Amino acid sequence: MLETNMRKILVTAALPYANGKLHIGHVRSTYLPADVYSKYCKLKQYDCIYVCASDEHGAPIQINAEKEGRKAEEITKEFHEIHKEEFKRLGINFDIFYHTHSKENKEFTEMFFEKLKKRIYKKEVEQMYCPKCNRFLPDRYVLGTCPYCGAENQYGDGCEKCGRVYSPTQLIEPKCAICGTTPIRKKSTHYFFKLSEFSEFLLNWFNENKELPQDVVHHLKGWIDEGLQDWDITRDAPYFGIKIPGEKNKYFYVWFDAPIGYVSSTAKWAEENGRSWKEFWEDKNAEIVHFIGKDIEYHHFLFWPSMLKEAGLNLPRRIPTRGWAIMEGRKMSKSRGTLISLEDYLNRFDADFLRYYYIATTPNTISDGEFSWKEFQTKVNNELIDEYGNFIYRVLSFVKNKFKGEIPEPAEYNEEDKKFAESLKNFAGEVEEKFEKIELKKGLEKVMGFTHECNSYFNKREPWHLIKENTNEAKTVVFLSTKAVYALSLALYPVVTNSSEKVFKQLNVEKASKKWGDYSLIKGGMKIGDISPLYEKINNEDIEKISQ
Ligand code: 2FM
Ligand code: ZN
Repeated sequence: MLETNMRKILVTAALPYANGKLHIGHVRSTYLPADVYSKYCKLKQYDCIYVCASDEHGAPIQINAEKEGRKAEEITKEFHEIHKEEFKRLGINFDIFYHTHSKENKEFTEMFFEKLKKRIYKKEVEQMYCPKCNRFLPDRYVLGTCPYCGAENQYGDGCEKCGRVYSPTQLIEPKCAICGTTPIRKKSTHYFFKLSEFSEFLLNWFNENKELPQDVVHHLKGWIDEGLQDWDITRDAPYFGIKIPGEKNKYFYVWFDAPIGYVSSTAKWAEENGRSWKEFWEDKNAEIVHFIGKDIEYHHFLFWPSMLKEAGLNLPRRIPTRGWAIMEGRKMSKSRGTLISLEDYLNRFDADFLRYYYIATTPNTISDGEFSWKEFQTKVNNELIDEYGNFIYRVLSFVKNKFKGEIPEPAEYNEEDKKFAESLKNFAGEVEEKFEKIELKKGLEKVMGFTHECNSYFNKREPWHLIKENTNEAKTVVFLSTKAVYALSLALYPVVTNSSEKVFKQLNVEKASKKWGDYSLIKGGMKIGDISPLYEKINNEDIEKISQ
């Protein structure tokens, strides 16, 4: 039975398009921080689920399928499986990783359309049409100069430089991205969502909700002040998407049904787990937390909340928004050739190394982070391995070799032990304060600060000497240090999940249920399991090979 006063938290990560490989840039802003936060929430025993899905619709999928002479659905299914496997290898544990091309998403999209009808109107529009390809050109298939900031070679749906969203007809000097022809304008009737009527609601929501990232809210207010444009939610066939009810050749724009995927995937999870999607999307006590990268803030702070409001569903409580991973000064992206695929990474290094590096270097802000292989090597070797990995192995080897694998019962504490026991008791609270605010980098700094203290304590108390002179004191030191091994691994579990699981196994507690900040599982007299070092250091050759 679930306790009724338990915090209920729905964590989502932006749905990845199922038409290409994942790269390590995606991991930094979205999938990893959401995974860490949801694992922390679960250790706190909140009623938390982590929901994601493949974003399967849109023009690029359709065009790729046409090029390859295959069905779009075949391609998306293939990428869905690849992504699922790679997320698993990276230690990302969704409660559900579903599809937007699903029966549930179709039903929910139709439900939203129905509920939003009062705010939707039809209008004839002129669209970009390529006379050579014989098709209306989707937004990302028109390239040109941004009408706002003048950046060249931008896609038709928005500018990567200034972040504005616009329509392809607004681009200066447009070209068809498939064949390079200058497109013509052709008429078609489209459905529009009256986003312009939501300005006041959005401004109030921004002002009332202090948990939204203030840096993002600040510049979004600027966009609202400039006036919001109504939103075209239609795409003409050929398109891979959900058909607009009552229309023959028209589909919902992928960005209309994609966020609805958060709701429909929750519903699928709920159905499989004897729960209801309404517990998260209607119950006012539920907290919805959307993790996103800064390139999709327009959709998550303006379109989506307006849709939710009109549909009478819960608005997100928090939208942690992080910047891009930059490589050699440019956003990591496939089209720009600055990409390291997740698969390539996973074939070379331990998943936990990337998890550690990213959390240790990514603040909860929209600032971009330079990815550097050298920094990756240094941080992993000097912090994760030298401080954490070594402490674990030193303490557990001591238990194994000097106490026949049995955690000793503690004796009396001296001042030093008392001080250490106090820190041990308090450090989880300090980490928690940061994790609650999704300040994951700061929380991790607290854990690593305590790791340093653990090493200093062990070095200062020198149990290898004490064991010769005063066995009782050695017992106390080793008892407290073993508790610390568990405490550190529990606090690090959200970040380096596989490593922590190894330590739990070495401590023989892998099956026991675990609770944030509670170390009562570790008792004197307990036998530990087989032990081995957690890591091997990253050597220079490995770094040289991948950074070439
Ligand atoms: O930008 C992207 O990669 C989109 N596929 C994100 C969708 S998030 C959500 F709204 F579905
Ligand atoms: Zn063309």
